[in-house]
Formats: sequence, structure tokens, C-alpha cells
Amino acid sequence: MSLKLNIEFDRFKAPAKGVLIVLCDDALKMGSATRKLLGGAADLVARAAEADGFTGKSGATLDIIAPAGLKASRLVVIGCGKSADLKPKDFLKLGGVAAGKVPSSAKQVTVVAELPAGPIPPDAVAGIAVGATLRTYAFDRYKTKKKEGEDKRTALDFTIATASPTPAKRAWADREGLAAGVVWARDLINEPANVLYPEEFARRTGALRRLGVIVEVLDVRAMKRLGMFSLLGVGQGSVHDSRVVIMRWNGGKRGETPVSFIGKGVCFDTGGISIKPAGGMEDMKGDMAGAATVVGLMHVLAARKAKVNAIGAIGLVENMPDGNAQRPGDIVKTMSGQTIEIINTDAEGRLVLADVLHYVNTKYKPQFMIDLATLTGAIMVALGQEYAGLFSNDDKLVDRLIAAGEETGERVWRMPLGPEYDKMIDSKFADMKNTGGRHGGAITAAQLLARFVGKTPWAHLDIAGTALGSPQSDISKGWTSGWGVRLLDQLVRDHYES
Ligand code: BES
Ligand code: MN
Ligand code: ZN
Repeated sequence: MSLKLNIEFDRFKAPAKGVLIVLCDDALKMGSATRKLLGGAADLVARAAEADGFTGKSGATLDIIAPAGLKASRLVVIGCGKSADLKPKDFLKLGGVAAGKVPSSAKQVTVVAELPAGPIPPDAVAGIAVGATLRTYAFDRYKTKKKEGEDKRTALDFTIATASPTPAKRAWADREGLAAGVVWARDLINEPANVLYPEEFARRTGALRRLGVIVEVLDVRAMKRLGMFSLLGVGQGSVHDSRVVIMRWNGGKRGETPVSFIGKGVCFDTGGISIKPAGGMEDMKGDMAGAATVVGLMHVLAARKAKVNAIGAIGLVENMPDGNAQRPGDIVKTMSGQTIEIINTDAEGRLVLADVLHYVNTKYKPQFMIDLATLTGAIMVALGQEYAGLFSNDDKLVDRLIAAGEETGERVWRMPLGPEYDKMIDSKFADMKNTGGRHGGAITAAQLLARFVGKTPWAHLDIAGTALGSPQSDISKGWTSGWGVRLLDQLVRDHYES
């Protein structure tokens, strides 16, 4: 039911039907191939722009229906602003805006990928295709009927006209896995918790094996043997058993130290005995977004055969209230040997990550660990949905994450850590407690994680705000974003592939 984009690359030519999309800058200037292909209709653009107050600023659009002199049913002009300084992420946005302008009656669209200054390089053309794919995403597998006037299409032919289709095709072959990884992450996040519980989530990660990823699943017995009682305590109130999944992609040199990504996978977070209020609780089916992002990222790395050794590790649990659920006041022993007093059973993500971080650190001694977690409401209060909170013990890793964030538009903002905050989680009865009081909630959560990473370079991304997707985004309109897949793929591309 979901709309399938058939992406094709072709030479510059005016389409015989469907929607035609062209680009201009903030002086309404268009490229020479675009002007040629519009012919007399170029005048139409100038007149319509004047009539509509369209100035070509970035992301603005102009619609001309049934344009005289063209066979297309509709001509859309997209503004690129000062088109000289477009960055890779701007081409994703362009693809997103273009896909968003296709009316639900159209079955065919042609985007002319040319800027006033000349052709768009192949990699950026592929970026347009990624943006369009992400923008047309919808999670509608549980809708069994369509209402009058709703989009009934199952496929849309999305042709990108470019000066050099062959290199563009090659670039898309390299980037297609990226779009697929983000889409997979989104699908996992949107899947309801009655379908996607820890065992089922673990089963689905098995699909990575087809790409050459080694997938290992730890069941409850294995976790007990390892002493992961912090993670197990969170899941003990659920009828669904907990799981840990370890995914290994060995695309780098043999024996080269791996990089590692760790995800919070709370398949549903009721809060447990410290139960959450009813309003909005349905969103907590997405409390496994960190884990979904790690799975999506592993897909991307394997699909493009990244020259890196990478570990993905996710802790999968369901946080439920039950006769067997863990209580406030309980004390659990983590795999590291440190003990945690449970003050609030709703601060469960850190309990899961404590064991997975320790496991990855001691077993694989990675170059670094980056964890992703929808960890605190406090980070949404601090940063909204535009930046993820970044906490780290390593300035170099921070710089690289910030740079990758600017490149991809998945931005991170560094937050503080320090001994003063660390003191806030000292406990009277155990080595630490799982909450630090009302103030600085995202920071004290990160301080707890810091106690489980040793001296390994580590970064924690609190994605509670960004995982659901910014309402401002052009590539995830109204849907979960799959936030972090593009960021971390970029980080690996920039710095860790040998
Ligand atoms: N999963 C939540 C955090 C969350 C809130 C994610 C809203 C996405 C949207 C997390 O497990 C949680 O409940 N955190 C508590 C911690 C508190 C009890 C110390 C919170 O932030 O309120
Ligand atoms: Mn919680
Ligand atoms: Zn949670």
C-alpha cells in the first residue's frame, strides 16, 4: 500500500507527461539545459513568479498547472536560494521538497537536476533521490482501506534528468542502502509493541545476515550467565523475554580495532511500577529508536561494504508493571559488578545501557562507543527536536560528531558532564541510584552511563527529542525520522574507514 518510488536517471529532456520540476536561484535564473527544455514556457515562469511573489528563495516553490507549450501536466519551480553554496544535505532537502510537491493524482515526475551554474554532480543527484525516498515514506501497512480522495497510488515513477545519468546511477547504487537503512529504522520505530517485542525485534535483525553481518542473539539464560541483572531487572515485569543482539560488520582490515554503536531498545516503556500518565503513552512504542538506528546503520555499512570493522549492540526489553516487576527501592547488580538502587522504574533506559556498554567495552575493546537512546524527557525540554544532546568524555569524538551533524543536518549539541553532577546519583544503599532528582535530568542520566564506559572514548546521544522527527524537516514530514543513521554513516565515512 505504501508508495513505491521507481527512481530512474535519464538525460535532460522534457517529459511527455506527468509533473516537471525545475530549479532556479534567487535571481530566478535557471541552467542552460533547463531553459532549452522549457523553450517558450520559460516566459511563463517569469510571469507566474511575478504574479505569485515567488523569488526563488531556498525551499520556496512555484506551481504552474497545465503549462502552455509543454506536454507536462504541471510545472513546479523550486527555489535554491544562493545556489552557489549548496551542501550535500541541501540536495536531500531538494529531493524532499520535490517529492512533496507531487500531487497525489500524478504517477510520473521528472526532476531536472541542473543549477543555474551548471550540472549537479552525481553524488548530489543521488542525494536528491535519497531525499525523495525519505520524504515519500509512510507507515501504512495496517491501513486496510483508503478513504475518498486519499492517495490510491502504489507506485510513482521518479525520474531525475541529469547531464550524466551513468555516474548518477553509480552514485545512487552507493547511496540507496543509506535510504533503505533509514527506512528500516523508521519501520521498526513505527511498528506497534504488540508486534515488535524483544524476541521479534531480535528475529528481524537476522535479515542483516544476507549482507554478511554476523548476528548473535543473547537470550535470558546467556545474560544471566554474564550477570546482566540491571538489564534483566527492567524486563522482568513483562511476559516477553529480554534479548541483547550483537551485530558485527567486518569490512575493515583483519584484526583492526572495531568502532561500536549501542542502542536503547525499550520496545515499550510504560514506566513500570512508577507508571507514566496515560496521555501520549502510545509514543513509548518508539522507545527503541536508538536500537532501530543502530540496526539501520549496520544495514547501511554492510550495503555499501564500508571499509570498517563495526559492532552494533542493542539491549531489547519491555518495561511493564506486573506482579514480578521491579520496585522502587530494589537494588540490582550490573554486569560490571557495580550496584544500582532503583528510585524510579521509569528511568529504565540507563539500566539497560549500563550492561550493554560494559559488555561491548570489555568484550570488544572498541576504538570508541557511541550510544543512542530516547533517554530523557529533560533533553526535549532543553533542546527541543532540532538537536540531539551529546555527552562525551572525548573532545575529538565530539568534534567529529558535530562536524558530521552539520554535514547531514542531524545536529548535536554538547552538554556538560562533571563530578558535581556525578555526585547527584550517589546512593545511600548502593553504588549509585538510577535518578538524580528534578534538576539536570538528561545530565545525571548521562553521568550514570559514564560509570560503565571505563576510559574508552565514548559519546552518548540523547535522541528523545529528535527521534520522532522535527516538524520543520523536509524529509520526514509527519513521520519518525530514523534520526542518527545518516549522522553516523557520515562520521564513519569521514574518519574511520581505512
Ligand atoms: N523513554 C523515556 C524518555 C522519553 C520521554 C522519551 C518522552 C521520549 C519521549 C525514559 O525512559 C523516561 O521515562 N525518562 C524519565 C526519567 C525520569 C524518571 C528520571 C523522564 O525523562 O521523565
Ligand atoms: Mn522510562
Ligand atoms: Zn524509556
